[in-house]
Amino acid sequence: MINPLRGMKDLAFEDAKKFNFFIDTASKIAANYGYSYVETPILEETALFKRSVGESSDIVNKEMYQFTDKGGNDICMRPEGTAGVVRFFISNKLDRQQGKFKFFYYGPMFRYERPQRGRFREFHQFGCESFGEASVYEDYTIIEMIAAIFDELNIGYTLDINSLGCSECMPKYRDSLVQFLQDKKEHLCEDCNRRINTNPIRVLDCKNEKCQEQLKNAPKITTSLCESCNSDFEKLKSLLEQNGIEFKVNSNLVRGLDYYNKTAFEFVSSQIGAQNAIAGGGRYDKLVEFLDGKPTPAVGFAIGIERVLDLIELPKPKRSGFYFGAMDENAIDKIVNIAKNFKSGNKVTVEFTHKKLKAHLKGADRCNARYCAIIGDNELKENSIWVKDLEKKEEKTVSIEDFLKLLKI
Ligand code: HAM
Repeated sequence: MINPLRGMKDLAFEDAKKFNFFIDTASKIAANYGYSYVETPILEETALFKRSVGESSDIVNKEMYQFTDKGGNDICMRPEGTAGVVRFFISNKLDRQQGKFKFFYYGPMFRYERPQRGRFREFHQFGCESFGEASVYEDYTIIEMIAAIFDELNIGYTLDINSLGCSECMPKYRDSLVQFLQDKKEHLCEDCNRRINTNPIRVLDCKNEKCQEQLKNAPKITTSLCESCNSDFEKLKSLLEQNGIEFKVNSNLVRGLDYYNKTAFEFVSSQIGAQNAIAGGGRYDKLVEFLDGKPTPAVGFAIGIERVLDLIELPKPKRSGFYFGAMDENAIDKIVNIAKNFKSGNKVTVEFTHKKLKAHLKGADRCNARYCAIIGDNELKENSIWVKDLEKKEEKTVSIEDFLKLLKI
């Protein structure tokens, strides 16, 4: 038997309904915030991710679905959505136009990670990217929008924020961190030892408890920010406070992708186990330029859809449409004929096996029909039909002619 690949799964039934409900809700809110939909290819040149997510990141280093295609091109299945949208922004010369551009997207992402609860090799993100707005008000607005999506879906969360500084303050901070880490090397894990040379700030969010123990007195980025980064960070905190969005400053929050500067944030759920980040994002003012576009400030986020599915409760679907059934074999042709009239514009279910009334009512309930319409012996003789409105719980027998008038309601 052939099963899905490790870390990948089919989406069906209740989860598929929740997925679509999530996409509808999040898309509507994003559209209200001025975002328009974009879909970029799943496959991109590997170089795109190396240059954006970063060669020293785990995603690029260990987790890419990378291969050479039949034309000899080095390509990759996207591990995240931002790089593709930035590539789209530059490919379409939007960086050369005045103004602000905001895009939302959703779709599958691929990371060759060790699968566990909430961590898959194929997973789906819903993301937004805002280009051309340097103001920290936009960082706040992005966070406000994510909170609006989670609030609308009744999903509880806590919010961690940090500032990763800029090209002025980050290198100085990085140097001081590397210096601090020098005499801790023997107590740090293998990964952290490697990171000291490749990407030292990633040491800060190592999950290993022994490493965290060593980091207790490490210098903090939040106390090493330059004036501009500091004032933006203070403003962000004040905007969140003024607008009742609770947060915690977590100076160890560095994110696993290399393109961020200034604001970085993560939304976390306490209800889903160890893989608890349900959304992450931040500002990435240098990325457009780094991918050969005109310098353009940008900020964005992505929500991990699989991680929120279990937290979503679907609204009770309203009953709709018609269920047709016959209690006598000779009435089946007749219900098929009547049902035909209802099929444009209504959800219609026709049962082709004659059954007792109770069984038909069960069938109508199963498909959540509003009306259960049945022809039995008497109705067949009298050219009538028995109809029950399952919402109002009213039932009556009417002539077929009157019943067809329901079509005009
Ligand atoms: P990220 O933090 O790598 O950021 O991913 C965003 C979210 O995707 C995570 O918070 C998590 O919910 C979900 N996620 C990540 N990996 C997995 C996995 N293996 N299985 C299930 N869910 C996962 C980004 O990808 C950035 N592109 C976000 C961004 C957009 N920053 C700026 N704009």
